[in-house]
Formats: sequence, structure tokens, C-alpha cells
Amino acid sequence: MSVYGSFPGTRPRRLRTSPAVRRMVAETRLHPSDLILPAFVREGISEPVPISAMPGVVQHTRDTLRKAAVEARQAGVSGIMLFGVPEDAKKDALGSAGTDPDGILQVAIRDVRAEVGDDLVIMSDLCLDEYTDHGHCGVLDADGRVDNDATLERYAEMAQVQADAGVHMVGPSGMMDGQVGVVRDALDTIGKEDVAILAYTVKYASAFYGPFREAVGSSLVGDRRTYQQDSANVRESLRELALDLDEGADIVMVKPAGPYLDILAKIADSVDVPVAAYQISGEYAMVEAAAERGWIDRDKAILESLMGIKRAGADMILTYWATEVARSL
Ligand code: PBG
Repeated sequence: MSVYGSFPGTRPRRLRTSPAVRRMVAETRLHPSDLILPAFVREGISEPVPISAMPGVVQHTRDTLRKAAVEARQAGVSGIMLFGVPEDAKKDALGSAGTDPDGILQVAIRDVRAEVGDDLVIMSDLCLDEYTDHGHCGVLDADGRVDNDATLERYAEMAQVQADAGVHMVGPSGMMDGQVGVVRDALDTIGKEDVAILAYTVKYASAFYGPFREAVGSSLVGDRRTYQQDSANVRESLRELALDLDEGADIVMVKPAGPYLDILAKIADSVDVPVAAYQISGEYAMVEAAAERGWIDRDKAILESLMGIKRAGADMILTYWATEVARSL
């Protein structure tokens, strides 16, 4: 009894007293089907290659990628986002390996489709940076600037070879103006109306992509600030969103996730299509590194980071922890 009589009259702690009651009143729940696994497959290797800045993540061989897809499906994960890593000798200024029907990504799409069929949504990164020797997401003009419209022609071709290989959903991630519309047209032209577009609608230029550069063996010099968004901006995201919806995006994505939860919440409040968020390589690396030093509880930190992204409004989350977390739920 306090000196204030029955004060406090309202006690929110009542609904926190046991795990059972907390479970009952939880407003947000993570489910395995919320999760999508990004995966790297590298050409010409016979053993998976660990990515040092992403402990626990590897560049897969064709074989281990197939196994990872099966494991993801068994764990209840809803999709797999594939990134191809070609042999260095196959990188060139145009990113030719990205449109070669026998390029590593196309081969991997066929492998995974043969293995899991339609039980797992097979998605592919549609971007040139994995295939260009300069590491940019597009082709360069005579002055070394990324040439938007010339790049769109390459994206159209990429969409078609990826669709021919059997992908269910393409993910244009290069932040070129008009990319969603061009990809939609390219797919429809060859009768692939059912191949969906997961648009990287709001993609910020981010230091947190660092470990990804190692994951795809990127040789990028400089940065992507002439095509990816500035972290200072909010309205610009809504503009990108309107354009992507108009051009035919089926799902819109915000990336990175953790440092941009305000943007994610705004987008989720204003659209009538599903919203995805990408918890990127640097977000993964930070948790793993701190946990390795014993500074945070790894498993709890992972779940909390994903809960935050879901709570902010994501219907689905790309995360390198997808299979592990799906199993634990
Ligand atoms: C572009 C692409 C990138 C990522 C996904 N697609 C790199 C970039 O835009 O610089 C980053 C993913 C991650 O960091 O986990 N192909």
C-alpha cells in the first residue's frame, strides 16, 4: 500500500507478469514465412568459401546452394534471393556474365528450381555490380558516369534470361530511374507475365553494405551515391515509391532495414502492396561481431532486430539468419 492509497490505479505490469500472458498480448509475431534467405553462389569452386565479414555465411557451390534451398524450405522460409558470383575472368565493363544464359546466376536459378520447384519462391538479384569489372550497378559512359538508359537495356536483357531460367520473382536493385517499368515490359514481351517484381524501391547509399562487397567479390572503387539515396532524405523515398508502383512493382522493399525503420513505417502506412525489408550484410555483421566478443546475447539480439523490422511494418524480411530463425520459432 502506498502513501497515495490505491495509486497507481492503472498497472500495465499486470500484462507482463508471465511468459504466458506476454505471449497472449504480443502485438507482433514473427513467423517462418515472413523470412526470405539471401544466398550467394560462386562459379568454379568445389567447396563453399566462408565470407570473413559475415561469420556463418558462405559463397555456395552449386551443390551446397541446392542443399541450402531445401533446408530453408524445410524450416518454413518462404523465399530465397539468389546472388551470382562469376569467375573474375568473366567480369567485364558490360557485366556480360549477367546476361549469359549459362552465367552462374542463371545456372543457379535452374538448379534451385529443379530442386524445390514452386515450394519456395525463387528470387534473383537483378543488378550488374556482381558482373562488372568496375563494380558499379550499371554500365559507364565515356566520362565514367553510370549511364542510366544504357543500363536499363542491360536490365531488360537480364530480366529475360533470369525468367527463362525459371525465376519466380526478380529483384531490380540498381536504383536506375525507370528500372521497374523496363523490367516489366521486358518480361511481358516474352510472355513472362507471371514473373513478379520485388522492387528495391527505397535503397539508401549505406556503409552497412560493406561485408556484401566481399560476399560478391566486388571490385568497386568509389561509391554509389549518384544512384542510391541519401540517408538524409524522407520525401525522396515517397517519390521513388510512387514511381515504382506506377511502373508495376508487385512488392516494394526498403533497404537497409534497421537504420531506416522510420522510412519503413511510412511506406508501410501508405501502400496497398506487400512491403519487404532487407536486413543487410552490415546489420548481420554487427550482431555477430558483438556476440563473438561476448558483448551481447546473440540469439536475443537477432530476434529483437527482426521484431523491430516487423513491428515497423515489414510483411517480409530478407535476412541471412532466415533458416536458423525459422527453425527456432
Ligand atoms: C546490388 C545489391 C547490394 C546488396 C544487395 N543487392 C549491394 C549494393 O547495393 O551496394 C547489398 C546486400 C547486403 O549488404 O546484404 N546488387
